[in-house]
Amino acid sequence: RIFPDRTEACRILAAEVAELVRSINNAGRPAVLGLATGRTPLPFYAELIRLHQAGELSFANVISFNLDEYLGLSHGHPESYRTFMERELFSHVDMRPENINIPNGNPDDISARCAAYEKAIRDAGGIDFQLLGIGRTGHIGFNEPGSPRDSRTRQVELDPITREDAAPSFGGLEHVPTHAISMGCGTILEARKIALLAWGDGKASIVKEALTGPITDQVSASFLQEHPDATFYLDAEAGSEL
Ligand code: GLP
Repeated sequence: RIFPDRTEACRILAAEVAELVRSINNAGRPAVLGLATGRTPLPFYAELIRLHQAGELSFANVISFNLDEYLGLSHGHPESYRTFMERELFSHVDMRPENINIPNGNPDDISARCAAYEKAIRDAGGIDFQLLGIGRTGHIGFNEPGSPRDSRTRQVELDPITREDAAPSFGGLEHVPTHAISMGCGTILEARKIALLAWGDGKASIVKEALTGPITDQVSASFLQEHPDATFYLDAEAGSEL
């Protein structure tokens, strides 16, 4: 779906997500949202906050799972995804802290923590709605080229392009972590509904590749072609090569 601009795209998607949360809550169970970070979801989170403030969306009965987290950042680091989520969404809405799940970026036992994250998603009943951005390498979460279709939550090594893209916000490449914990492609593809957001010229060619190119582990977003309910929400620039 191509919209004139990102504000309009986020207004429509946020209204759809609010409706989904309400209908799941009305059916008597918590709604499970998979959340993303990066610059892309910022106008979407702003719109969710607006709906919350307008009394149209409560997060009191929402469980969230974030896609990924950098490994090794200190607690409260401004670039950690936990800090990002607090700043951009959670501190503005009525999420219950115990319902917030973000991979631990300083785990004692990485594989045990990753397995526990997968189990927590299963125990919550699976993800109802998963939000995604897309990296220049075609990654979703931090599933860099070579990530298998059936990969699960695990430690990943960041692609040099991804680290380069993150360098300005970290104040230099040498400060960008080399590794992260990310949900796998298999974890993401099990979400019942998926929305991938992309804005601007810089995303146009990777969006085209993901949507119309071969389905390959070299572009993990291309796996979405096989998902029964995945939609790309694009502005005119990101959709310009389609
Ligand atoms: C990071 C995140 C991804 C995000 C990507 C694009 O790699 N792990 O989830 O989609 O960056 O970032 P941006 O939205 O800032 O372009």
